[in-house]
Amino acid sequence: MTAKKKPRVYLTRKLPDAVETRMRELFETELNIDDMPRSREELIAAFKTADVLVPTVTDRIDEAMINEAGPQLKLIASFSNGFDHIDVDAAAKKGITVTNTPNVLTEDTADMTMALILAVNRRVAEGSRILTDKPGEWDGWSPTWMLGRRIWGKRIGIVGMGRIGTAVARRAKAFGLSIHYHNRKRVNPATEEELEATYWDSLDQMLARVDIVSVNCPSTPATFHLLSARRLALMQPTAIIVNTARGDIIDEAAMIQLLRDHKIAGAGLDVYQNEPAVNPKLVKLAKEGHVTLLPHMGSATIEGRIDMGDKVIINIRTFFDGHRPPNRVLPGRN
Ligand code: DGY
Repeated sequence: MTAKKKPRVYLTRKLPDAVETRMRELFETELNIDDMPRSREELIAAFKTADVLVPTVTDRIDEAMINEAGPQLKLIASFSNGFDHIDVDAAAKKGITVTNTPNVLTEDTADMTMALILAVNRRVAEGSRILTDKPGEWDGWSPTWMLGRRIWGKRIGIVGMGRIGTAVARRAKAFGLSIHYHNRKRVNPATEEELEATYWDSLDQMLARVDIVSVNCPSTPATFHLLSARRLALMQPTAIIVNTARGDIIDEAAMIQLLRDHKIAGAGLDVYQNEPAVNPKLVKLAKEGHVTLLPHMGSATIEGRIDMGDKVIINIRTFFDGHRPPNRVLPGRN
């Protein structure tokens, strides 16, 4: 009996050792040991030889690239929850299945959302910088120095009450915030009751009434600049906005202007419109203390990354065993 040929799997980035080792055991896997982002040309070359491409959020897999794929490429098993970097419809037209890694980064991303909410309202990064950037300058506690704003007793407005939005709501409730949300559809009554959540059909009305706006919806053509200049201007001048979803959901230039004009009190951002470029005006605002910036690390835990790798492996194995992979992304979703 001849051994079954292993699928050729191409990883665009370095993955945790445990994941890469298992992949090498199971598949003919090409690693990216140096973790240098692959160029477009390198990706197109891989499209012509690999059976499976494992991209991440840093690889833009557009229609032109997909059209270059050889007939052997059957699966794009993304190492990511989001799939806005892949033209899923173009892949479907070419007969290529796309999968992602949902669920396993929900709790980590929700934790980071809370970290940003606390960091902005309680001036965490600013306080830390006082000790690290100007050692010896701190001359002790003072009753009126470094005052932030408490979060308990405030209202959070969650934009997008999917898995991550709901996980943020659970944490926010435990921190004493009252939960408000806007979503395409209302969540089930049991969840609403558990969270004592108030549903707002109108995003505009919710934005005008909450103290903290948390962006937790996916990036799709429908959510591009959902937080537009007009909508951001509805926020209270004491309110802050936190984004751990995708940069293009907020009109970044408009948000910067409102922050500079003190029409919004602060922002906590993990994602950016032109990632990995970060607008220097945001960096300036962060230095002044109105803004806390993180480099897209919402889901960056070792446990989460290994769980993501396990999902990629399960998707590849299921697919090559002739079954529907558990995390297939259906066309029409972006
Ligand atoms: C994803 O997987 O979509 C995340 O943004 C990566 O943290």
